[in-house]
Amino acid sequence: METSDPLDELLTCRLNLGRKKVEPCSVVIFGASGDLTARKLVPALYHLHTSKQLPSPMRIIGFARREKTNEDWREELRAGVETFSRAKRVDPKLWAEFAGNLFYCQGDFSDENAYTRLSKQLAAFGDEALRRNLLFYLATAPAQFAEVAGHLSRTRLLRRDEEGPGWQRLVVEKPFGTDLASARQLNTELTRFAHEKQIYRIDHYLGKETVQNILMFRFSNAIFERLWGRDSVDHVQITVSEKLGVGSRGGYYEQAGALRDMVQNHLLQVMALVAMEPPVSLEAEAIRDEKVKLLTAVRIYDPSQVPQAVVRGQYTDGEIDGQPRVAYRQEPKVAPGSNVETYVAAKFLVDNWRWSGVPFYLRTGKSLPLSASEVRVQFRPTPNVLFAAQCGPKLDANAITLRLQPDEGITLRFNGKVPGTTIQIRPVRMHFGYDSEFGAYTPEAYERLLLDAIEGDATLFIRRDEVEAAWSIVDPIRQAWADQPLAHADSYPAGMWGPKGADDLLAARNHTWRNPQPAN
Ligand code: BG6
Repeated sequence: METSDPLDELLTCRLNLGRKKVEPCSVVIFGASGDLTARKLVPALYHLHTSKQLPSPMRIIGFARREKTNEDWREELRAGVETFSRAKRVDPKLWAEFAGNLFYCQGDFSDENAYTRLSKQLAAFGDEALRRNLLFYLATAPAQFAEVAGHLSRTRLLRRDEEGPGWQRLVVEKPFGTDLASARQLNTELTRFAHEKQIYRIDHYLGKETVQNILMFRFSNAIFERLWGRDSVDHVQITVSEKLGVGSRGGYYEQAGALRDMVQNHLLQVMALVAMEPPVSLEAEAIRDEKVKLLTAVRIYDPSQVPQAVVRGQYTDGEIDGQPRVAYRQEPKVAPGSNVETYVAAKFLVDNWRWSGVPFYLRTGKSLPLSASEVRVQFRPTPNVLFAAQCGPKLDANAITLRLQPDEGITLRFNGKVPGTTIQIRPVRMHFGYDSEFGAYTPEAYERLLLDAIEGDATLFIRRDEVEAAWSIVDPIRQAWADQPLAHADSYPAGMWGPKGADDLLAARNHTWRNPQPAN
């Protein structure tokens, strides 16, 4: 690791001093037997415990249908932490402390008596705060969100309009609806039982360090922000590529597809952070207002315009890292003639003063050659004189790449003279890497998000109007595809960078995709 200048430490501005204080509370996880609980939620809570960031006292209750004892559930979760947590190693003493606060409540989501049992269990903790301050995490199918919230409300565990003592919050996982109409309906149902400010809609991308850094990078550095707009930027590319196929998630994915699974949430959120105007303050509402403003400025296509602006694809069999891969249609729980897209590339335009005419190209896909997420801001080329006059397109324009994962960092690309007696120019890079600057510590997205929800900080959660604005953008695309089966040309072999149409989409404006490079 490079040693940093002692002055850097003096200049570190610790905004976290302003973090809210965590109050004793109980976290109730609905869907406690599921994958998310074992893979993400409990490992994140365990790490927060080991770093002493959780309130004391605190209890975690798992609510699910299967019969099991507290001990069974604790054992299951320990195995989950050992397999999935970033540290993978469980410290026996810390685990014993943590596990002592884990309790299981068996019940069916539709059974009112189960909620009464839950209420009694909370009361039995014997501490008013543990009974009143409640974070309900709905790691369930979206169809059950309103049902669970309704029961919580009827058993007075969730109170909508009362001002204290205590607080109750609902954390809901994506997918939040399947289109604008269903998202609106879900919002209306949930807000019958909880006030909007009690609802925390998760998009785990916002919990990633590097995604949060987009705002710091933009609004704490004058040199970049001056270039951030149509006068200097030629276009922006946002890529979220995944090597994995859908694997065992075929059942869910058949209902979702890449557009709903990734574009509607993660990619549009990243785009909103890259393109939004500076907020008037760092308050949650000020930041979310600007994101909504940006999303509502994204041009909404008429379904007839979609073929010129959005490309979809589906992987066929192929090879990744020398290993054979099956086609999407051969994955478990996938229909043999499925038309679900595993790849999307879209050109979006933002009709506001700053970005007018600058294309934002977004793409995401499964079974691609590399797992990487990055934002590339491609600047305008130099005028066609001097070096550009002779080199033509070989004189690459400047670019800033924000690498969100893995190998997190920021790279500025510009041209330099190759040393020697002849005149040769080639692109060179200036690179900031998180690991080399700060060491390898990167908390999991869920750690940050769970802590924020416990503290009552909604900045990194999606507001109602935000989720609806995002659906308004993707709905016409879905409609345009609804009755159109995938064509042969839409397929791409696993291990390739998507269908040819994605290249044509950019070629129409003389642009080309810049593929992420493997981590060093
Ligand atoms: C999830 C999607 O929201 O994000 C998955 O449902 C996807 O399909 C995942 O694989 C990607 O997240 P990450 O953090 O691995 O980039």
